[in-house]
Amino acid sequence: MKFLKLLILFVFTQVSAQQGGMWIPSLLKGMNESEMKKLGMKISAEDIYSVNKSSLKDAVPQFDGGCTAEVISDKGLILTNHHCGFDNIQSHSTVENDYLTNGFWAYKMEEELPNKDLYVTFIIRIEDVTTKVLEGTGTLATEAEKQKKIQENISFLNKTLPKEAWQENNIRTFYDGNQYLLFVIENYKDVRLVGAPPSSIGKFGSDTDNWVWPRHTGDFSLFRIYADKNNRPAEYSKDNVPYKPKHFLPISINGIKENDFTMVMGYPGRTQEYLPSMAVDQIVNTLNPVKIEVRDAALKVQDGFMRKDNAIKIQYASKYAAVANYWKKWIGETKGLKKSNAITVKQKFEVAFKEKVILAGKQAEYGNIISDFEKNYSEIKDFALARDLFSEVVLRNSELLQNSYRLYQLEQILKNKGEQAFTDRKNNLSNGIVDFYKDYNAMVDKNVFEQLIAIYAKRIPSQFLPNELNNLNAYQLTNDIYNNTKLIKLEDFRSLLEGDSKTVIEKINADKGYQILKVMADAYTKNVLPKYDELNLKNIATQRTYMKAILELFPNNRIFPDANSTLRVTYGKVKGYKPNDAITFEPFTYLDGVMEKYVPGDYEFDVPKKLIDLYNSKDYGVYASKGKIPVAFIATNHTTGGNSGSPALDAKGNLIGLNFDRVWEGTMSDIYYSPEICRNIMVDIRYVLFIIDKFAEANNLINELKIIAPKKKM
Ligand code: ARG
Ligand code: GLU
Repeated sequence: MKFLKLLILFVFTQVSAQQGGMWIPSLLKGMNESEMKKLGMKISAEDIYSVNKSSLKDAVPQFDGGCTAEVISDKGLILTNHHCGFDNIQSHSTVENDYLTNGFWAYKMEEELPNKDLYVTFIIRIEDVTTKVLEGTGTLATEAEKQKKIQENISFLNKTLPKEAWQENNIRTFYDGNQYLLFVIENYKDVRLVGAPPSSIGKFGSDTDNWVWPRHTGDFSLFRIYADKNNRPAEYSKDNVPYKPKHFLPISINGIKENDFTMVMGYPGRTQEYLPSMAVDQIVNTLNPVKIEVRDAALKVQDGFMRKDNAIKIQYASKYAAVANYWKKWIGETKGLKKSNAITVKQKFEVAFKEKVILAGKQAEYGNIISDFEKNYSEIKDFALARDLFSEVVLRNSELLQNSYRLYQLEQILKNKGEQAFTDRKNNLSNGIVDFYKDYNAMVDKNVFEQLIAIYAKRIPSQFLPNELNNLNAYQLTNDIYNNTKLIKLEDFRSLLEGDSKTVIEKINADKGYQILKVMADAYTKNVLPKYDELNLKNIATQRTYMKAILELFPNNRIFPDANSTLRVTYGKVKGYKPNDAITFEPFTYLDGVMEKYVPGDYEFDVPKKLIDLYNSKDYGVYASKGKIPVAFIATNHTTGGNSGSPALDAKGNLIGLNFDRVWEGTMSDIYYSPEICRNIMVDIRYVLFIIDKFAEANNLINELKIIAPKKKM
């Protein structure tokens, strides 16, 4: 008895310690199926991915190239996050019909709204094409030549490998260039908006709650895919018909308990799980801190103005949210990497790695990897820092420098591509800039500039500091620029672009704002970029060899390829966590928690009246669990940006939720996944259905779904 218990305990900790990973759906059978079954999965790998019959993958398209969606009816209805559909919801909104504020619901198909440029991508099949891609690269001497040949092979294969006329081939690299997979895909381009809750549900908690557990956001929206009469992809036409999917997800409202199996399918964007310790050290101690410092300063300035002035709040809300998203993520990531001793863990692995290399007699091939990394990363450090600073200060957070940089590119285009290209770009810029100035406030930008230029001068390694910023008086420089520049008013900006190329170049070069940008950009492109690129290429090559060696020497480790925006499966268990001493988080939240956070009239925590009424009358329909409406839950699934909108599935492959975020303490999972603390956040499908059914009263939509409900007790 005792022995059995011990054994069970042992098996359990083994399994839970092994979680994490984003796996390739076509390879689950060999790599994951038995572990998934151990964790509780009731379906087979073939049910998830098959080329011979319909499978889960046929219900999970990528949404608009960045997010994930899932098909939930036989009429092409799809679900994704509110924040993924946000731009499309916004684009249909006017002052009279403000769908962002009030929500939007199509009660008939005719009311569904077409979206210019929105598309979803289905995967038809996945094939290994490594040998073909690497053909003819073995004899090439330099990394640059190899990369060039690989790119040539890929474009040739994309064009020539068999596919139907309406399909596309898309070859992607895995394991840092050790494997290449072909994805045959179909892009559906007629995707219409069907439903979205008001932002006070879909974005509830906004930036304050972003990356945070416990969470109470109804982060979902609904779209529908339309196809031509043959069910094939087609541009928008009113003659198109609802898409008939090969598979759509049944929805379970049976409820979930802690430790239940869950799995998430989707298109995670980028992870770096196999970086060596020195790279992680650089992220933790050099790069993240400076990026956070820049954004800290910019956000503080903007926030100060936004709080005082409602017009500025509207102008800057969306820009602020975008910058704040990764600012907050990097802070959590840095803390998490430190707390979990990720650097030490990696260092230990590197010691073991070196021993393994010797044991296997592979010194000739792999003996220099770690020392090469040491050398490369120490050499690249200053260049990487300068690069991140430039991109955060100039390209991301100072609007004046951002626009000046556009002019800088214009000047480069004239030099490198001639008059016609110059004129085309100039006209584009002049037209495109109109939208920018609608949401621009020179006072805010001026204050941001003063802060950021000072940080730039202080933090940039001194060998890259342009003379003009030596002994900088930020206050004086800022006033001098903003009192004279033509870059802070739409009409002035456009007047700079009037005239022939010679006149334009003269005018912009006479502008004080442009002058400072040019000094910075020249120094950057001359002194930082070329050397950075050279060293980075070395790191890429070393990383590829390192990955190859890991795969070869540690065949029993669970080694998954880093995320690369291709379809992956991750799985784990519903589970709470302990972020800090004396704090334990439960894995479920409820509507009661929405009401606890409710601040009437607040831009982040207001609650719509109808939802309050439903809460007070407890009009919960079939969606309640023990008298409460579930809102969100967390699990140990390994996800990242791009997994937004991904279906959370139960052991049978039924939809139980929608992925939309991670917990702050676990955002380090992009670099180092720890099952102790890394959790993904999902909105409970019962909350989604409750909002569609009781809040929006969109019975037309509920009737389309295949809902699996608890069996009634006799
Ligand atoms: N953190 C989530 C994801 O990266 C949600 C972002 C959107 N929400 C927001 N408040 N900015 O990307
Ligand atoms: N919100 C993220 C997205 O837009 C998903 C959260 C994450 O990074 O884990 O894809």
